[in-house]
Amino acid sequence: MLVKDALVEATKRIKGISAIPNKEARILLASYLHKDQIWIITHDNEPLEEEGYFELIKRRVNNEPIEYITNSASFYGENFYVDSNALIPRPETEILIDLVVSTCKGIKRPRIVEIGTGSGVISIMLSLLIPDAIITAIDISKEALYVAKKNAEKHDVHIEFIHSDLCENFHENNFDMLVSNPPYIANKESLHVGLSYEPNLALYGGNVGDEILRKIIDIYEEKSVKYLACEMGYDQKDKISNYLKNSDIKVDFYKDLAGLDRGFIIGRS
Ligand SMILES: C[S@@+](CC[C@H](N)C(=O)[O-])C[C@H]1O[C@@H](n2cnc3c(N)ncnc32)[C@H](O)[C@@H]1O
Repeated sequence: MLVKDALVEATKRIKGISAIPNKEARILLASYLHKDQIWIITHDNEPLEEEGYFELIKRRVNNEPIEYITNSASFYGENFYVDSNALIPRPETEILIDLVVSTCKGIKRPRIVEIGTGSGVISIMLSLLIPDAIITAIDISKEALYVAKKNAEKHDVHIEFIHSDLCENFHENNFDMLVSNPPYIANKESLHVGLSYEPNLALYGGNVGDEILRKIIDIYEEKSVKYLACEMGYDQKDKISNYLKNSDIKVDFYKDLAGLDRGFIIGRS
């Protein structure tokens, strides 16, 4: 089969599950052949050993996210390795990065701790954007930490990685910034089939959904951290406000690009 015919056939097969089937067919072919997009476009009359390629197409037709098939995800303009041991980074998390960067602006050598680093994208981007920051990244999943370390190496940044349930194995106090995009979906919520490929540990936050978020707020208080920046579910603003109601903590919520409540920052003056 020629490259161009394989692309037509693959596009047809992916159509039902993707809004951009033609683009995905090309991305998957480029990944399969270890070539770039230009090569695909300029070599469409080349013969192709198509069997392996259509194996990848089959995975996509079964709703597996393209990032897991290609082991590659884009975040904040950078490329990261991903596999099914770590959440695929989401564009809305880039807002959290901007917030942390602007908050840390006036702080010399800011000491930043991330809970739930997954593929490492938050800590790695912060390290690239705040070169003098001292960063520790925690995750309960050894497998996710393996992915994060691989990405830290790829981006040539130094981050201390700790395997821990929240801060159980991390005993430092008084740092500048605690940041987290924790799992915040309620255990019983049924999700789109594509999400079933992502680790449950990265998605589910407890029976209500905000249990880990609340524990992270407790850690912020116990450890006298200066700032806490967290992503949350679009419907969790009231729950978080209520949780903070009896403390003198001031919280600012932010929205994502779709206008949905998406996170908050807490600070001490
Ligand atoms: C929503 S993912 C976020 C991953 C990454 N930071 C991102 O924004 O793409 C949440 C991460 O928290 C980790 N996690 C879940 N429960 C945890 C806990 N109790 N302690 C530490 N990490 C936890 C999961 O393994 C997962 O990697």
